[in-house]
Amino acid sequence: MGLGGGLVTFFLCLLFFAAPSASSTNLLPIIPFDEGYAPLFGDNNLVIHRDGKTVHLSLDERTGSGFVSHDLYLHGYFSASIKLPADYTAGVVVAFYMSNGDMFQNNHDEIDFEFLGNIRGKDWRIQTNVYGNGSTSIGREERYGLWFDPAEDFHQYSILWTDSQIIFYVDNVPIREIKRTESMGGDFPSKPMTLYATIWDASDWATNGGKYRVNYKYAPYVAEFSDLVLHGCAVDPIEHEAKCDNAQTSKAVPTGVTPAQRIKMENFRKKHMTYSYCYDKVRYKVPPTECVINPQEAERLRKFDPVTFGGGRRRHGKRHYRSRGSQAEEAAAF
Ligand SMILES: *[C@@H]1O[C@H](CO)[C@@H](O)[C@H](O)[C@H]1NC(C)=O
Repeated sequence: MGLGGGLVTFFLCLLFFAAPSASSTNLLPIIPFDEGYAPLFGDNNLVIHRDGKTVHLSLDERTGSGFVSHDLYLHGYFSASIKLPADYTAGVVVAFYMSNGDMFQNNHDEIDFEFLGNIRGKDWRIQTNVYGNGSTSIGREERYGLWFDPAEDFHQYSILWTDSQIIFYVDNVPIREIKRTESMGGDFPSKPMTLYATIWDASDWATNGGKYRVNYKYAPYVAEFSDLVLHGCAVDPIEHEAKCDNAQTSKAVPTGVTPAQRIKMENFRKKHMTYSYCYDKVRYKVPPTECVINPQEAERLRKFDPVTFGGGRRRHGKRHYRSRGSQAEEAAAF
C-alpha cells in the first residue's frame, strides 16, 4: 500500500468526518399513513396506530395484510422504520418494495426488500432484488444477515432509486449498490412504481426452500412500520408525467455512495452477505453480465445457504393480490 495508500486512507477519514451525519435523512418529512398510503389487503389485520404514523401489519391463519402508496413514483428515496415479529417466524415474509406489476403484467419493474423469517433461535435474513421490464427469469437476489436483531427494535430500511443507480440502505448504511449498466438493458427498473409493504405466508419457499412452514400456533405475526418517507417524483397515473418540482433536490436525500459509506458497505458485505446470484452456478452457468466475480467472495459464499430460494420459478408479478382494491390473493403465484 505504501504512502499512497496511507494518504488515501487519510483523506477517506477526512471525508468520513466531514460527511453529513447519517441521521440527515431523518430530516425528511414523515407522512401520516392516510396522506401517503391506503390499505391493500388483509382487512382488520392492518391497524393504524393512534398517532396516524405507525401501522401494524399482521399475518394470521385467515390472511396476511399490506398497504400501498397512493401515488406512483418515478425515482426517489423511500424509507420505513420496521420492527419485525419475534420468536418463531419460519415461512413468514415481510416485504417492503416497489412494483408496477398491477399496471404492466408482462413487463413490470420491481425493487425489493424482503425479510425472510426463521426458526426460533435463528435470525431473520434480508433479501434484496430488482426486476426490470418483466425480467423475472433473471432473479438478482442477494441475501444478508444483520448486525442486530430486527425483531427487537425499529430499524430504518431505505431504497434510493435514480436513473443511474439503486441503493439499498439499512440504518443509513448502504448495503447494495446497483449501477445501471448498458448490458442490463431493460432489466434496470425504469417505469413508475408504487411502494408496498406486506406480510404474507411464504411457506413454500421462504425458509430453507420450504422446509419450515408458517406455524399458526404462534400467530398473529405482527410487523410494525413507522417513519414512512416517500420522497420522489409522483407521477400522474393517466398522463405518466412526473410532477417533481423539488423531489430530488432536498439535501437530506442521498445522491450516491460517499467514499466513507463505501468502506462501510464493503465491510457489511464481507461480513454479512450470505448469497449473491452472481455466484449461483445452479441458476446461472454464466453469471449475468453486470456481475464482477471476486474469487475470494465466491469462496466465502460457498459456505452459506446452499439452497437457491425460488430458483426462478418464484413469481410472476402479481403475488400478493389480484388487483388493487379487490380481494387479496395471497402468494398463490408460486
Ligand atoms: C421490454 O420488453 C419488451 C418485450 O417484452 C421489448 O420489446 C422491449 O424492447 C423491452 N424494453 C427495453 C427498454 O428493453
